[in-house]
Amino acid sequence: MCGIVGYVGDKQAEIVVIEGLRRLEYRGYDSAGIALVNDGDIVSDKRAGKLANLEKAIKESPLPPSTTGIGHTRWATHGAPNDVNAHPHLGRTGRVAVVHNGIIENFAKLREELERTGHGLRSETDTEVAAHLLEVALDESGNLTTAMQVACRQLEGTFTLVAVDGQDPDRVVAARRNSPLVVGLGEGENFLGSDVAAFIEHTREALELGQDQVVTITRDDVQVTDFDGNRAEGKHYHVDWDLSAAEKDGYDWFMRKEIFEQPRAVADALLGRHDGAGLLQLDEVRITEDELRDIDKIVIIGCGTANYAGLVAKYAIEHWTRIPCEVELAHEFRYRDPILTRHTLVVAISQSGETADTLMAIRYARRQRAKVLAICNTNGSTIPRESDAVIYTHAGPEIGVASTKGFLTQLIACYLLGLYLAQVRGTKYGDEIAAVVHELEKMPAHVQRILDDAESVYKLARQLAGARSVLFLGRHAGFPVALEGALKLKELAYIHAEGFAAGELKHGPIALIEEGLPVFCVVPPQGRDQLHAKMISAIQEIRARGAQTLVLAEEGDDEVAPYADVTITLPVVPTLLQPIVATVPLQLFACELATNMGHDVDQPRNLAKSVTVE
Ligand code: G6P
Repeated sequence: MCGIVGYVGDKQAEIVVIEGLRRLEYRGYDSAGIALVNDGDIVSDKRAGKLANLEKAIKESPLPPSTTGIGHTRWATHGAPNDVNAHPHLGRTGRVAVVHNGIIENFAKLREELERTGHGLRSETDTEVAAHLLEVALDESGNLTTAMQVACRQLEGTFTLVAVDGQDPDRVVAARRNSPLVVGLGEGENFLGSDVAAFIEHTREALELGQDQVVTITRDDVQVTDFDGNRAEGKHYHVDWDLSAAEKDGYDWFMRKEIFEQPRAVADALLGRHDGAGLLQLDEVRITEDELRDIDKIVIIGCGTANYAGLVAKYAIEHWTRIPCEVELAHEFRYRDPILTRHTLVVAISQSGETADTLMAIRYARRQRAKVLAICNTNGSTIPRESDAVIYTHAGPEIGVASTKGFLTQLIACYLLGLYLAQVRGTKYGDEIAAVVHELEKMPAHVQRILDDAESVYKLARQLAGARSVLFLGRHAGFPVALEGALKLKELAYIHAEGFAAGELKHGPIALIEEGLPVFCVVPPQGRDQLHAKMISAIQEIRARGAQTLVLAEEGDDEVAPYADVTITLPVVPTLLQPIVATVPLQLFACELATNMGHDVDQPRNLAKSVTVE
């Protein structure tokens, strides 16, 4: 949600900033803008719509050379996505330019005060208020770093702010509270970005910032303080992926590339997590075994796709550990006064590690003395840093806004956590755990087999490209798969799609069934007699009412075959692990169908990859 870039060095800042914005565009694409410091002044251009509009404008009307600049790609919160509301925003005299990610909650009050003292604000944004405050503070102190500290002390809410002063050509100053910001450490140049993708082609050395910190970058120096001006430290880290991971690599879309990367991503998520004999070693889990043995309840929180990973996890964790497990949308969690004790383990699932709803929920949980374990894909992000423990999913950067490899690797991490708890608490024998681990190790090959047969799913997607509504049914661990399949289709194809628990069908949703309605049915493995038979009954019921049944069933499932209009064959896997394989055809389907409808699957309308406002 909003991408931010800052640069100071000896290169042309315009090129570095635009390149950085291109890599961050997945965070928001309502508008884009740039500000450069040139000859004692700020020069800026900003345009509604995608980055390409800004690039076109700059081509037609070039900006002067500069080696210091900032840029922004926006996901609109305050004010329509037009040119005026696009960032950067300037102060009253145009001396400072500011870009912002987050929401300044007291902006209305601050705006009123500014207007009373003669400040004319041009946009409807909360950001412009920060630009004016910063300029006022700069006029007093003459120092952009000090001014940023002063301005931040007046702001409430969440923000990353990055600013330049037209009269200070070699300095970019930024601040963060609850919104993401990392520093890229170069030689004779330094960078700022919402995430490392912004500068990965220039440096893989990064500095993670804490909350309520101000950072000043010049060509040769990086200084961190708190909002009161006291010296503070960032945490240096090395980024373990390179530029190619953030490029399309011959695929038409990042999303398709990321779907096809899943065998590797799943393998990486499993790597080093057990000894050859299946004994789990989760070294990152910095919660002692005694504390894990004392847990009497697990609450899993997340949003969107991450929440569905949590729903799958509940089935596995309760089954393996016998610990009661609740799954909750992160934004609902803290408002219902949940019962948490020091014996509660809160598992926060977040690909980005920055989702504001999830972040606020874990802060709440820790205040209630619960232990928090994060399942996260992004090194150096806020959620793992503020948790007691973390399991990284190691999927590599996920650029497509709709999560794919992020989801599969979240499932792997959840399974590992469940098995680890079972191991520590002795609720499963070692050989039982080893047997599941052995099945998990087969997953990369299983996923690869599904991908090898992508064409048959693509064909189906092309046939159904005109569908106005698609339903998804599942039972047990297949129910969250149905939800995820429907979410992917909504996100990408903008058509009505719903996931239902198959057993619930007869209690209402069956009324939606009409002649020719496509319904995906995730059939549990045959080993689970009752579940399997009940799912087949549900399929018969909808088929009798005219639905077109698109059945995902394991290889050799002859019982369901007579009721399937289309069969997508899944590898034979244990019931609890089936979501890993069953999700993949639904990802391929949504990606292909949306592409055929002419949609941008990497940047679906109205969405943002990481939602850093509540
Ligand atoms: C946004 C994205 C979803 C994602 C959700 C949670 O809504 O569009 O694809 O599932 O945030 O993101 P997280 O980074 O916390 O997993």
